[in-house]
Amino acid sequence: MSKPFIEIEGLKKHFDLGSNQILKAVNDISFSLQKGETLGLVGESGCGKSTAGRTIIRLYEPTAGRISIDGTDITKVSKSKFKAYRSKMQMVFQDPYASLNPRMTILDIIGEALDIHGLASGKAERKRRVEELLEIVGLNGEHASRYPHEFSGGQRQRIGITRALAVQPQFMILDEPISALDVSIQAQIINLLIDLQKKMGLTYLFVAHDLSMIKYMSDRVAVMYLGKIVELAKSEDLYANPQHPYTKALLSAIPVPDPDVEEGKERIVLKGDLPSPVSPPSGCAFRTRCPAATERCAAEVPVLRETRPGHIAACHYA
Ligand SMILES: Nc1ncnc2c1ncn2[C@@H]1O[C@H](COP(=O)(O)OP(=O)(O)OP(=O)(O)O)[C@@H](O)[C@H]1O
Ligand SMILES: [Mg+2]
Repeated sequence: MSKPFIEIEGLKKHFDLGSNQILKAVNDISFSLQKGETLGLVGESGCGKSTAGRTIIRLYEPTAGRISIDGTDITKVSKSKFKAYRSKMQMVFQDPYASLNPRMTILDIIGEALDIHGLASGKAERKRRVEELLEIVGLNGEHASRYPHEFSGGQRQRIGITRALAVQPQFMILDEPISALDVSIQAQIINLLIDLQKKMGLTYLFVAHDLSMIKYMSDRVAVMYLGKIVELAKSEDLYANPQHPYTKALLSAIPVPDPDVEEGKERIVLKGDLPSPVSPPSGCAFRTRCPAATERCAAEVPVLRETRPGHIAACHYA
């Protein structure tokens, strides 16, 4: 296999809440992506997906770890040199409503991204480039003079995608890009993202809170629980042979279109809520909700190990 395009190693992001309280939002995660690959990142609300994304593009300074793009560790790059790498990595945010400045026209929202990276010389070229980008994502270039509130949710997310594309990125972190949208619009945005990936050779980290949509998007999937990756495998293998009890529970929650299968399917309902990342359980962090937990799980931290070829899981009993 060729050298990975993106390599994340031992990444941590801890928030100091004061009074000796440290919230370990991302607690030692490692993964890599090949060029043009999509890695899905899944886990329930609060497990650290967005924090991981924001730390990878250095919106947050990492507490520890290495983030390499094309062989360069960007945590070691000076602030002035970082700009060049920053344009290679873009993030599309969860909430298309909140992520666009309501007082700016679309021309200025996207134009601003072009300006920061010096990608348009002069007003006319800037406008032409914005219109061109809008057409690429299926919007009308003539609407560049409009404001965000004049667009629907799906159109606004297209604008968010356009802003990210404006700086010619190679790697995009898509943070639940469809979860705020109507179901009828979701497939359109997914198809747009797949289409853009093919045309531009983009590498995606696709964040989602459940496993249903991610299957169609992802080559491989990583499952996160309380700041850690608990399982990572090729998409088909994860769905066919889940190894970690948490992944099994997430999978059992996906409705199956066939009513006969759906009826006979065992649904694993997790007890309790996600524990606080300030004081996670000892041993395996999942043990307080795991239907199969034993004494060993409270005493020993399970490490990620290969349980099937190319398939890793962190469970003593996988
Ligand atoms: N700036 C911050 N300061 C302190 N704690 C934070 C900060 N950002 C996130 N957290 C905490 O870090 C943990 C992970 O949050 P994060 O937003 O990354 O989760 P998530 O997996 O993206 O959840 P969701 O699916 O709801 O978007 C949560 O406990 C959250 O409260
Ligand atoms: Mg999030």
